[in-house]
Amino acid sequence: AQERPRLRWAGAAKRIAEAPRTADANKGLYGHALIVAGAWGKSGAAAMASLAALRTGAGLVTAAIPESILPMVAGVAPELMTIPLKQGAKGEIDRANLEPEAFEVLTKRRTVIAVGPGIGEEPSTEEFLLGLIEKTDVPLVIDADALNLLAKHPETMKKLSGSSGRRRTVVMTPHPGEMARLAGISTKEVQTNREPLAREFAQRHQITLVLKGWRTLIAHPGGEMAVNTTGNPGMAKGGSGDILTGIVAAMLAQHADRPAEAVEAAVYLHGLAADFAVREQDEHTLLATDTIGHLFRAFH
Ligand code: APR
Ligand code: MG
Repeated sequence: AQERPRLRWAGAAKRIAEAPRTADANKGLYGHALIVAGAWGKSGAAAMASLAALRTGAGLVTAAIPESILPMVAGVAPELMTIPLKQGAKGEIDRANLEPEAFEVLTKRRTVIAVGPGIGEEPSTEEFLLGLIEKTDVPLVIDADALNLLAKHPETMKKLSGSSGRRRTVVMTPHPGEMARLAGISTKEVQTNREPLAREFAQRHQITLVLKGWRTLIAHPGGEMAVNTTGNPGMAKGGSGDILTGIVAAMLAQHADRPAEAVEAAVYLHGLAADFAVREQDEHTLLATDTIGHLFRAFH
């Protein structure tokens, strides 16, 4: 039988988050994260991902959201910048946002782009997502509805991390249900095969795969893999995943030279913050946003 490959501990990567900022630091050192999220009825997903990115220490965070929900998302923190996106009839992100002038404003000088929380699966949003992936080359974090949309586009999956020469960091953060859709298997098959599945998927697509749930796995394009030990069942509530997306984006924004560690540390910090939060709450009453409020403890 083949030897079972060893898993490293995601917590070891936390050291990159502990390193003090240099005394003469400026915000330009810590990147500009763009969060593309939300739709009518899902403004919270955009708000939570954005607030988490701010709290994790990105130099700048801009949320791009359908115009009707902009005031709600902008209200989450005065530090957040926002860009209104043209929206379709259902308050979803419209394909019109790919028009060159608007698209340039949206994507210029970003260090990392996170896309997916609460965007829904409308065809117009689908078209926008594919264009966003194709027309940009900075690190990408792909989550939630963006994963479900991508699952319908194997041709885009094939060129996600760029063609020869141009390599970009792509991080996908599926929960088991989203992973099932991506891999074309059942959720049960995902859960009984987590390790080999994550490793194989990350290698085949040359991406970093964060397979969420109890003992989240982080699989890298080279075949290395880490397991996370933080987190608790209080996190099994809507919003927890959106927060992780913001944390991953902000860690990549600050540590662009060490993407593997940035992602592992992000997953670890997310769970650790929730572990601190639940001590002051309870697994039942914990809100996903309580985790954001305890990130500072996780960074210590
Ligand atoms: N132990 C440790 N961590 C946990 C546990 C647990 N028992 N339960 C959940 N978590 C963590 C996961 O590892 C992950 O980081 O909480 C997070 C949950 O993320 P998601 O499943 O993506 O949940 P979320 O996005 O907040 O809400 C679900 O979003 O992805 C869409 O289709 C999904 O609409 C649904 C909504
Ligand atoms: Mg989710």
